[in-house]
Amino acid sequence: MSAAPQVLDTLPMTLPRLAEKKRLGEQIVMVSAYDYPSAQVAEAAGVDVVLVGDSGAMTVLGYPSTVPVTVDELIMLTAATRRGLRTPFLVADLPFGSYEAGDELAIATAQRFVKEGGADAVKLEGGGVMVDRTRAIVAAGIPVMGHVGLTPQTSTALGGYKAQGRTAEAAVKLARDALALQDAGCFSIVWEAIPAAVAEELMARMDVPVIGIGAGGATDGQVLVFHDLLGIREGVGARFVKRYGDVMDAMVRGVRAYADDVRAHRYPEPDHTYSIDPGELTELRERLHAG
Ligand code: KIV
Repeated sequence: MSAAPQVLDTLPMTLPRLAEKKRLGEQIVMVSAYDYPSAQVAEAAGVDVVLVGDSGAMTVLGYPSTVPVTVDELIMLTAATRRGLRTPFLVADLPFGSYEAGDELAIATAQRFVKEGGADAVKLEGGGVMVDRTRAIVAAGIPVMGHVGLTPQTSTALGGYKAQGRTAEAAVKLARDALALQDAGCFSIVWEAIPAAVAEELMARMDVPVIGIGAGGATDGQVLVFHDLLGIREGVGARFVKRYGDVMDAMVRGVRAYADDVRAHRYPEPDHTYSIDPGELTELRERLHAG
């Protein structure tokens, strides 16, 4: 990597340190990233928490939604991400269909992410029955991050990819889910796509760090998807996405320049080639000539 890594903090992130950040009012920075190079970037940039989100189903695996991604696929991405990280806390999303049906299934899936993927913790979506799943995984010794508001795995049931908690009744339900997940032992909860004013009202009740995405500025931290914030993805993205780069453009320009050079015989140049001792070359020619 050419940009010199900025060593902001060399201690690995832990659950007590995340809780301490909330207590001190220090914002927690979380990024969804899914492979070795993006993990190295997150490490060098001093990110606190890396999430191998199931959004990787779309950003790196090309699925139309998060629903089809399998446990094996996300574990492979988690393990690659783990290899690129030293400092940030690593959370892995449990994919749709891998935890909802029962506590045993939820524990077994979470254990695979820790054992095979090297995750420090897992994240699951929703309240209701997921509160029981959370309690079971936490009791099995694996930290859990909750996720309420817009939960993409069940977005069809929510009426699509749209903001949640926009009526008093919906906001009360969201608050109940968040508090139940907190009581069940979540070490942190993601709030996605809810009105900033609702988040502000609810924050006083939250003892664990709340990480917002489209939830305004009152939460204890923010999360964005690596590909969204760096512009490695086509399209405008959700309202809450802020672009900090145009990496897709830079990549296309780079590959196009390479293709142009190859077609015009400008690449490779002498510097890119290997030499051979002239004597060896002469002998080769003689032997080729001799058949
Ligand atoms: O899958 C993901 O990346 C997420 C975050 C956006 C919270 O769930």
